[in-house]
Amino acid sequence: MKAQWQAAEIVHNDRLEIRQPFCAAGGIESTFRPATIIRRSDCVIPKSAPSNCSTWPTKGFFRMRTSLEMQSAWTQHWNEGHAESLPKDRAAGRLGALDSAWGKFFSGIPDRAKLLDLATGGGDVIRRAIALGRDFNITGVDLADLTAVSATLPIPGIEFIGSTDLSSLPFSDATFDGVTSQFGIEYADAAAATHEAIRVLAPGGCGHFVLHHADSAITQGASRSIAAYRSVFAGIGAFQLGRTVFELYRRSAPRAAIVEAETEFRRAVATLQSRLRNEPAFGLARNVVALLSGLARAPDFHAAADALRKIDTWEAQIQASTLRKVAQIDAALDRKGIDKTAEWLAGAGAVVEPPQELKYPLGKVMAWSLSFYKPPS
Ligand SMILES: C[S@@+](CC[C@H](N)C(=O)[O-])C[C@H]1O[C@@H](n2cnc3c(N)ncnc32)[C@H](O)[C@@H]1O
Repeated sequence: MKAQWQAAEIVHNDRLEIRQPFCAAGGIESTFRPATIIRRSDCVIPKSAPSNCSTWPTKGFFRMRTSLEMQSAWTQHWNEGHAESLPKDRAAGRLGALDSAWGKFFSGIPDRAKLLDLATGGGDVIRRAIALGRDFNITGVDLADLTAVSATLPIPGIEFIGSTDLSSLPFSDATFDGVTSQFGIEYADAAAATHEAIRVLAPGGCGHFVLHHADSAITQGASRSIAAYRSVFAGIGAFQLGRTVFELYRRSAPRAAIVEAETEFRRAVATLQSRLRNEPAFGLARNVVALLSGLARAPDFHAAADALRKIDTWEAQIQASTLRKVAQIDAALDRKGIDKTAEWLAGAGAVVEPPQELKYPLGKVMAWSLSFYKPPS
């Protein structure tokens, strides 16, 4: 995740409490809840603050290196089994440009080469290499916990290392013959991550990155989804109203109180239903509203503890999905951003080809593509 300035207040010696949500690029509110606790080690203190940690100011703006909520939002995503990055585009046969970019890169790499896939997620890039029948040793690293992903590819020579920030890679200099990233490195602190990518690349090694484009259909889709979630759920408090109903059931509250809470919950769910429109961006919102409707229709049919757990899960799904989409929009690069990334790679010692745009068959922008190599010493 890119570093964000965050209003924070120290509540313990080594913890910060976020007092207000921050606004990410485009003025989109993040789903960080006020009172989120972050570790001091996840923050960079401003230059103006004293260097001795015990004398930190009690209030101020802190720069977060990573966010625990972001890490868990991605872990949740990969644990749900999303191995492929663009499954709908794959199903519709729209990934020709991406496939040929990776095919071209892998064809220039000899078998048994050691590759590092940065921000590997569900291992999409690794799976492409395997599908091409190539015999590489590939290590995939990611901020998310990759235990579940790792279990899906128990193949010799393939290793997944989770909980690893790209800005500080746990490898010696010149370890790999190639580095790759697909919709990954731009989520990290790009200056540090590009430096690390070139540090661990052996002289003579090469790399290929596919990066989010600010004008891509993917970025536009993320914006539409966020807008859709907000237009459905904002200002209703439906999850909380649902929780109130089942809390009352759990406490065997008086029938009148239960009926009143049920009426409010049903009214909220009816509002959610009326706000849904027939657009793909409403997909997850539509599922969650359908599930809430099921609870609201006949609350006494559901075990209270089970219903409460489900409400928490669905709300967390919406929050995590929003957070990932906010991060994606924030990560996407315009022309200036991709040129800066190329500049950082060059500054770290790589020879970088001019950035290319990958396009969908009908001409819409899909992503940036960046190829480079580290000259032999
Ligand atoms: C859009 S997913 C792409 C995953 C995969 N490369 C693909 O193409 O399907 C972005 C990934 O970047 C990871 N990520 C975000 N910030 C990171 C950081 N600072 N260090 C390492 N990984 C990070 C996330 O955990 C997530 O798995």
